[in-house]
Amino acid sequence: METVLSGIRPTGKLHLGNYLGAAINFVKMQSHYNCYYFIADYHALTTHTKAALLQESSMNVLIEYLAIGVDPEKATIYIQSHVPEIAELYLFLNMFAYKGELEKCVTFKEKVRKAGQTMNAGLLTYPVLMAADILIHKANQVPVGEDQMQHLEMARNFAQRFNHYYEVDYFSLPTAFNNGESLLRVPGLDGLGKMSKSDDGKSAIFLVDDEAAILKKIKGAKTDAGPTEPHQIKPIEIENIFFLMKMVSTTETVDFFEEAYNNCSIRYGDMKMQLAKDMNQYIAPIREKILDLQANEALVRKVARDGAEKARASAQKTIKEVRDIIGLNSLR
Ligand code: TRP
Repeated sequence: METVLSGIRPTGKLHLGNYLGAAINFVKMQSHYNCYYFIADYHALTTHTKAALLQESSMNVLIEYLAIGVDPEKATIYIQSHVPEIAELYLFLNMFAYKGELEKCVTFKEKVRKAGQTMNAGLLTYPVLMAADILIHKANQVPVGEDQMQHLEMARNFAQRFNHYYEVDYFSLPTAFNNGESLLRVPGLDGLGKMSKSDDGKSAIFLVDDEAAILKKIKGAKTDAGPTEPHQIKPIEIENIFFLMKMVSTTETVDFFEEAYNNCSIRYGDMKMQLAKDMNQYIAPIREKILDLQANEALVRKVARDGAEKARASAQKTIKEVRDIIGLNSLR
C-alpha cells in the first residue's frame, strides 16, 4: 500500500474552502492508503508563534480534523514535535541542501520580502524540514497544492543526493498526489478571489461558525443590482453565491434560484436567507463535533498520544537505518 503524508500548519481555524478544497480528501484517502497527517508545529516556529497560541492552534487543528472525519483508527494523526526523530533527520538532510537553492525558493523569496530584517535560518531551511517530514515515513504520495510543488521537488533532490552520496537506494522519491482531480477552488463572500481567512474572516465561513455568524456573513456577501435581461450572464459575485449554494443546498433549491435569476424575478435577500439556512445545516454536524471535542480534552490528548506512538515507531526505524548508513551507530 502506498504511503500518503500531509502536514497542516497550525494557523487558525479551518474554513469551508480548506474543507472542500483539501481536507475532505484526507478523509477519502484514509481508507485507501497508509496515511499520515500531522500538525506542523515545528514549522510554525519559523514565524515566531508564542507558546500559548501555538498550543491552542495545534489542538484546534487536531480537533477540526477529527471533527470532519479523519479517523485515528485508519490514519496516523500526530503533532510534528511529538516525533523528535524528524528534527534529527532535518539535521542530516541539511547537509544535502545547498544554500543557493534554498535562497532561490519562491516561498523563501516571498518571506524575505515580508520579513526583511527578522529573517531567520529556520525560514531558509523550511523546505528541508518539510523533506524530513516526508522522508521520515518514506512517504511516496504527498497531496499538496501548487504552492508546495517546489518544496516537494527539493525533497526529491535531497533524497536523491543522500542516496547518491552514500551509494544506497534508501529513500524513495516522493511525488505530488492530487487524486486525479483538480482541487476545488471555493470562492469567498467578498466577490473577489477564493475563500480566505484574511480580511478578518468576513469572506470565509469557518467550520465553527454558529448560525448567527453564518447568517451575518452571508447577508453581507457582495451582490449586484440584479439582472435586467432574461438569461443574463452572472457577474462573478453572483456566480460565487450560486457556487456556494450548489455545495450545500438541494438541486431543487439551486434550480429555483437559477430560474428566478434567468427570468429576472430573483430576490437576493431571499436567496441569502436560504443559503444561510442550508449552510448552517451543512456545517452544524461538524461544528457540534468540534464543540464536543473541545469539551473533551482527555480524548483529544489520547488521540495525539496514540498517533505520536505510531508515528514514532515508523520514524525510529528510519532514523536507525539512516544513522547506520551515515556511520553514526558505531559505538552505540
Ligand atoms: N509546507 C506546508 C504548507 O505550508 C505544510 C507542510 C509541512 C507539509 N510539512 C509538510 C505538507 C509535509 C506536506 C508534506 O502548507
